[in-house]
Amino acid sequence: MKSDKIVIANWKMKLNLAQTVDLAKKIKTKFKNFNKGELAICPNFISLLEVGKILKDTNIALGAQDVFWEELGAYTGEISASMLVEAGCSYVIVGHSERRQFLMENYEMIHKEIKAVLAQEDLTPIVCIGENWEERKTDRRDFVLFDQLQQALSGLNIVGDQKIIIAYEPIWAIGSGTAIEPAEAEYAHKIIKLTLNDMFGMKTVDNNFKIIYGGSINSENVKGFTNLENMDGLLVGGASLDANEFYKVASAILK
Ligand code: 13P
Repeated sequence: MKSDKIVIANWKMKLNLAQTVDLAKKIKTKFKNFNKGELAICPNFISLLEVGKILKDTNIALGAQDVFWEELGAYTGEISASMLVEAGCSYVIVGHSERRQFLMENYEMIHKEIKAVLAQEDLTPIVCIGENWEERKTDRRDFVLFDQLQQALSGLNIVGDQKIIIAYEPIWAIGSGTAIEPAEAEYAHKIIKLTLNDMFGMKTVDNNFKIIYGGSINSENVKGFTNLENMDGLLVGGASLDANEFYKVASAILK
């Protein structure tokens, strides 16, 4: 049976246009005969159209790194969900912790962004949640995850096959070089799953939600994440910036 897991590359603001195009081409070549699970790449905004052309006729989907909640209007610098669809995106990261940290995004904004994304038929939000080091150290993680999910998703009406991906990204693990212990990720994913079950019911959660992990995943530590419960895939930063490394990570998870 084909894996229903997903591996998503988040290239953040790490590459310019030429470097992005180069890496997208390398990834396209590397994954030429790869036909397992789902793959997506999220380059920066200015690269979306070019990367979209490269990924055309491949099994690799295009994603964006952010979205604004309004559709059209006087919102200088922003990009709407329908514009992302127009650019060929099937996924968009919403509320990444780096945006929460550097741009003061909060879950009220994230909630509006998710709503705008869900209004587009073929756009899936990748909603980022996760505790910081202080919260983990003081044993508040479960509450933080519960609270972030409530703020982000309360009151949303999930209809039909509309998909939502929850990315559990413990802030302290991102870019640190050390991923969380797999058992700890499994525990956090269970908390997320139970919270979602409570909010939307098990049937909807099984059908419409995926829970993925992000934070310092690489080809060495990925093996610990292959057989965890409630682990539907990965959101990969640094390790997705090299085609060979990304291939190793993706092929370990997507079988
Ligand atoms: P790293 O894999 O570089 O830690 O980044 C994770 C991340 O933030 C993905 O969104």
